[in-house]
Amino acid sequence: MIDSKLADLRHEYSRSKLSASSVDRDPFVQFGKWMDEALASELPEPTAMVLATASADGRPTSRVVLLKGFDSNGFVFFTNYNSRKGRQLAENPNAALHFFWPELERQVNISGNVERVSDEESDEYFASRPYKSRIGAWASHQSEPLASRAELVKRAAALMLKHPTGHVPRPPHWGGYRVRPERFEFWQGRESRLHDRICYDLTNGKWKISRLSP
Ligand SMILES: Cc1cc2nc3c(=O)[nH]c(=O)nc-3n(C[C@H](O)[C@H](O)[C@H](O)COP(=O)(O)O)c2cc1C
Repeated sequence: MIDSKLADLRHEYSRSKLSASSVDRDPFVQFGKWMDEALASELPEPTAMVLATASADGRPTSRVVLLKGFDSNGFVFFTNYNSRKGRQLAENPNAALHFFWPELERQVNISGNVERVSDEESDEYFASRPYKSRIGAWASHQSEPLASRAELVKRAAALMLKHPTGHVPRPPHWGGYRVRPERFEFWQGRESRLHDRICYDLTNGKWKISRLSP
């Protein structure tokens, strides 16, 4: 059933354009340019990305996580290794990341395989988090059923009594993942749905650039 209240919503895209000759040869550099523009535009959550994972039998799930760093080795985010996403990544280490920056009329898709970051990297980032976020990482058994909010708050309060000085060790089940891209797609909205899509595929260690139909 088509709901015209939804179906009649249409936005014309006209801010910018993209071509195989205008993008950087290196997709990480190109991503860095777009991320810098997203940061400069003061979007509400420029580093928020949808992370898609799947079980071994191919059932997909997705959720938003925050990008905490990227370089030519990959894209890093942090989470609970026992969460639903963590369990899926343990049985199927492939993932996709999706950034949507509507104010810039842009999206970026990145897919590849995933590995855990080193304990040192996780320790370093965990130590930089605010005290209550570090407590929260212990208090939340992420993705597990919770009888009530009160139970979670009680657990957090008990942990604050246990760690009153501010030193909170990193939980062994909490840390980072790195998505190592095999494919990037940069999408720039254009007039009349004739959008620009520029794709990078990793082939024999080299990035091959192509244009896709919108
Ligand atoms: C803006 C935003 C940022 C988030 N950032 C993170 C994050 O960096 N790490 C994380 O584990 N969950 C983050 N979450 C919560 C996840 O979306 C998700 O609810 C949680 O990780 C459990 O997902 P799962 O049960 O599929 O494993 C964020 C949610 C939002 C809306």
